[in-house]
Amino acid sequence: MVRFLVLALLSLAGVIQTSASPTQASEPPNTTEEQPPLGTGSLSFPWSHLRLPGYIVPLHYHLKLHPNLTMLSYSGTVRIELQVQNNTNWVVLHSKGLRITTATMLDQNLAHLSDQVLPVLHNPTHEQTAIFSPRVLSGGQKYFLFLEFGAELGEGFYGFYRSTYRTSTGETRNLASTHFEPTSARMAFPCFDEPSFKANYSISIRRSRAHTALSNMPVEQTVVLDDGLMEDRFAVSVRMSSYLVAFIVCDFRSVSATTASGVKVSVYAAPEKWQQTHYALKAAVKLLEFYEKYFNIKYPLPKQDLVAIPDFQAGAMENWGLITFRETSLLYDPATSSASDRVWVTMVIAHELAHQWFGNLVTMEWWNDIWLNEGFARYMEYISVNATYPKLRVEDYLVDTCFAAIGRDSLNSSRPISSAAESPTQIEEMFDTVSYDKGACVLHMLRHYLTDQVFQSGIVRYLRRYSYSNAHNQDLWDSLANTCSEEEFSSGEHCYSSRQAAKNAYLYAGEHLDLTTMMNTWTLQTGVPLVTVTRQGSRLLLKQERFLRTAHPSDPAWPSLQQGFLWHIPLTYRTDTSTSIHRHLMTTLTDSVDVGEEVDWVKVNVDMAGYYLVHYDGSGWDNLIQLLKDNHTALTFMDRTHLIHNAFQLTTAGRLSLDKALNLIGYLRSESHTVPLLEGLGYLEAFYRMVERRDIPDVTQNLRTYILWYFRDVIDRQTWSDKGSVSERRLRSELLSLACHLGDLPCLKQAQHSFTHWLDSNSTHNLPADVAETVYSVGAQEDTGWASLLQTYTHSLSETHKRKILSALASSRDTNKLTRLLELGLEGEVIRTQDLDSLIAMVARNPRGHHLAWSYVQKYWSTLVDKFQLGSFSIRNIIIGTTAQFSSTEELTEVRVFFKSIHEQASQLRVTEVAMDNIQKNILWLQRNLGTLRSWLDQQID
Ligand code: BES
Ligand code: ZN
Repeated sequence: MVRFLVLALLSLAGVIQTSASPTQASEPPNTTEEQPPLGTGSLSFPWSHLRLPGYIVPLHYHLKLHPNLTMLSYSGTVRIELQVQNNTNWVVLHSKGLRITTATMLDQNLAHLSDQVLPVLHNPTHEQTAIFSPRVLSGGQKYFLFLEFGAELGEGFYGFYRSTYRTSTGETRNLASTHFEPTSARMAFPCFDEPSFKANYSISIRRSRAHTALSNMPVEQTVVLDDGLMEDRFAVSVRMSSYLVAFIVCDFRSVSATTASGVKVSVYAAPEKWQQTHYALKAAVKLLEFYEKYFNIKYPLPKQDLVAIPDFQAGAMENWGLITFRETSLLYDPATSSASDRVWVTMVIAHELAHQWFGNLVTMEWWNDIWLNEGFARYMEYISVNATYPKLRVEDYLVDTCFAAIGRDSLNSSRPISSAAESPTQIEEMFDTVSYDKGACVLHMLRHYLTDQVFQSGIVRYLRRYSYSNAHNQDLWDSLANTCSEEEFSSGEHCYSSRQAAKNAYLYAGEHLDLTTMMNTWTLQTGVPLVTVTRQGSRLLLKQERFLRTAHPSDPAWPSLQQGFLWHIPLTYRTDTSTSIHRHLMTTLTDSVDVGEEVDWVKVNVDMAGYYLVHYDGSGWDNLIQLLKDNHTALTFMDRTHLIHNAFQLTTAGRLSLDKALNLIGYLRSESHTVPLLEGLGYLEAFYRMVERRDIPDVTQNLRTYILWYFRDVIDRQTWSDKGSVSERRLRSELLSLACHLGDLPCLKQAQHSFTHWLDSNSTHNLPADVAETVYSVGAQEDTGWASLLQTYTHSLSETHKRKILSALASSRDTNKLTRLLELGLEGEVIRTQDLDSLIAMVARNPRGHHLAWSYVQKYWSTLVDKFQLGSFSIRNIIIGTTAQFSSTEELTEVRVFFKSIHEQASQLRVTEVAMDNIQKNILWLQRNLGTLRSWLDQQID
């Protein structure tokens, strides 16, 4: 039986071992009216489940905190008003790493239930604490649990943790900030740390005069205490989940503005970074106003703060009213931020503001459906930024989100959008491309299917119905189909009873609509479908299957890999005979539609609004290749991009020969749109990186020659400036970076020239931001250049500038320098720990650094896990970043052996499977395609 530790048995010093008695999930442990024999250690932890019992519900937290930024510790008290539903002697809640020094229980009139201090038991494995009340707590009554506690300010990125920054005069200053999602509120204060335990929060924070305290709500009152300290009392919050609580004590400076509806928006940053806050302020005001209109629900708090935290692990966090960001996700420096930086900052703000509705106002019931938060927030980024900043043209890049999702979903190790998650590691790992990107793409498909208006009114209904509470997938489908409970129906609400709704026919879709059945095939089933279309006279024969990049129909395992997969696919297609979009809902494995005899070509999945791939049988691909050659603008740029993606995906799976895909992009010289151009070029670059790393000199050389020859004109057209539209600027960044990486002489010469100019100016001259990274990368190949860059890195006040420099430093061909960088990353002084995962990935991308980075990860694995936590973005980024370029069976074995050696951790992670699938995919790609690539290049070069 598991043994639990009793860490604090009040007034009885010492640690007592007790044994656990398992109880049923929803039943309260046995109650007793007798006084327990305190001090004998006979009390055992009363709860054996990971999830808290449901019979005690927190209603209101009164939380008081007193951080000491010099001692790097804090003390606090919390008084939690509880609704008890069943008789019990126990309150079980979460806490992790906290010293709980006093526990008392009060009745509704604040009278103590017992004159003794109460025993507090801990179960560290489940991060739970149980308080024993000798007097029974009666079902139907309210009580107050009062706890005093203390802890160190965390050294990592979770709970209530310390961050630091240096001023230009060299002074180091501390601040204290929080990050709770998904399961770290329990590290800051004892609480019922599950998303469905929504409660109100009244927070007070003590601070010195030199500091500012921030929390979810505005300060209502500030009291000067006897010792000269200040106590800020914040207004009581709305009902919310514990993971959204936040507080910060810092000495930051801010800028503020008010939205049309009267919400005060402020952006905070370290004092010397104040100039970089203005863009974010404008964007936040605009976007908040957009969302209030779009959702037709007022933002419910009087203020919204956005704070740039110098040490921050994620990209940003949507705490209600107090959004925290990594500096690169919020600060925009006109001098050093590129066009992509601007897009990134705008998108992150849009994402976190979308969460104020999707996530904060309406929260998923449990973490298995985190996509209801993250998929929506990711999708709303595109909708809101498209509406507020149309010039950024972000909708052009929605396909990248879908391509990322397909990348993961076409491997056997993928998972359904809604998947079980119980332990903190499993929960943390749910924040992945499936929840975010597949979630967003599936919503995009649904919006296309239902039309914008129906989609919008459906999600507004969802947000209204579940405001301040929690929802499941089913609630979303019901809201979208406008079904309602019989109760609402009979009370005259405008909605359909569920029976009616199931019969409801949406005329625009021309189909009988059963949204739940359809959407379950996308959210409860793993994978992405491949639809194969075959022309047969006037008919189009359709066949669906699961698309897998690592399996082929000739594999013996194929039938079992396909067993049971079926999607309800809202199919669309376009033909040369009309401009209209044809629709068909495909709900069976095979099906057919009539397209007419005289059609020359058919393009299925119009503008890639659907989450599925398409294979054209017979002469289907040849017709499309010809069409692109003759008249590529007959298709939209989205369709062109989609075809390129589709063709190369099929070659990876061994379903289409590589020369077809390469011939398909043979039209790219006449392509003037950035998105398809970058899509095609991206594949060539990926192949180049693979053969370069594998040291296959003939193909590497020929591919380089081919790319530089084929794309000569468009490369030469690029200017080394920041001029032009955002699309033009993005294209320039990518193209010049690739050209220099391929060793293009004119590119290297220009970069060298600009770098010398920059050096001569004593690093004060600002390079055009879009090409700065390329220029630095070329400059970093010389010793003096590398040293000057490291020097500038150390002192720069712009994090986006620093990121560009770091990438350049990590592109050095000198392995000693790469080793030096990795050491600096481990020290965490010059290179912050928050940037270590990207640094490792950058070094791994460099052919000279790949094995270095991989050995480093193996050597420092436990240190890295300590710094970042097992299921985090960072650890996953490190694993994928260092293994994704492997492409041999020896390397696969090496990776497998390493994962075995860390079995206890590796077995808790999905990402280890993903990493191995990725390598397998690369091995197969080379087996299937290297020969074809070689001979195709030989032909071209001739
Ligand atoms: N809710 C997340 C923050 C988060 C991420 C919490 C992972 C716990 C685990 C936030 O809204 C988010 O999605 N942040 C992204 C950036 C965003 C623009 C996609 C991130 O941190 O990368
Ligand atoms: Zn998010």
